[in-house]
Amino acid sequence: MEAQVMKERPIGVFDSGLGGLTVVRELTRVLPGEDIVYLGDSARVPYGIRSLETVRRFSMDDASFLLRYEPKMIVVACNTASAAALDALKEFCPVEVVGTVLPGAAEAVEVTRDKENKAVGVIATEATIQSGAYLRAIRQHDGERAVYAQSCPLLVPIVEEGRSDDDPIVLSVLHDYLREMQRKRLGALILGCTHYPLLTNAIAKVMGPDVSLISSGRAAAKEVQRRLSLSNLLSSRSYGGRLRCFTTDNPERFNRLGERFGGRRIDQVERVPIDELESRHPATTEIP
Ligand code: DGL
Repeated sequence: MEAQVMKERPIGVFDSGLGGLTVVRELTRVLPGEDIVYLGDSARVPYGIRSLETVRRFSMDDASFLLRYEPKMIVVACNTASAAALDALKEFCPVEVVGTVLPGAAEAVEVTRDKENKAVGVIATEATIQSGAYLRAIRQHDGERAVYAQSCPLLVPIVEEGRSDDDPIVLSVLHDYLREMQRKRLGALILGCTHYPLLTNAIAKVMGPDVSLISSGRAAAKEVQRRLSLSNLLSSRSYGGRLRCFTTDNPERFNRLGERFGGRRIDQVERVPIDELESRHPATTEIP
């Protein structure tokens, strides 16, 4: 394909639902000229309580749908999908695939390199924690590094319900989940889920000023910029990138809640029926 045409192709982003719009927000911050096609699989959310095999199958469905739009790159905004399916997706997709786990882990190691407290904490969904993907990714950089992991299943519904940082229920749930982490003298805590950046202030309050909070979505956006730049695929536009959204469930809800996650108005949301997504590629039963 002609290089100029390839540069102006969209970035394909998928997530289990709305949460990935926090990653779109970060992408738009660093790459405001890029067009984005987003798929939120809201009909099958949450991914975070499912088996890794099921998350892999759903992720393949999502990526195959996006490939219809000939993206120049696929971004796996969902941490659970990144943890469960990155290798399978890389094998399957004809374009580069960037997830959130590896960039988040790399940034946590980097940020703590010169700190006295080098231990890294990870909070994420049950499936992400169970996969051990963050632990492996951190240990790739530093085999000795102390890593503490905690799943926080209540945080996704709490955020979707619209509760904010200063809500007493949010603080009480966080105190409960983070009690162990508070004792570990962490240098950094990875927010390993699309929804957690919306609770940054509350998490900072509970963990205190010495713990650097790492947004895996923000780290992934920087990685996307770096990779596109390396392969000379950055769009020639420096602003005005368009966002086209698809959801497998209710577009009205997506539209209503989307702005809070994405930090911008979501103008165009189209519904894609789930059976269309499931039948889109032949590889659903044959995942490596
Ligand atoms: N998007 C998911 C993640 O980042 C959170 C929501 C879910 O469980 O599907 O892990």
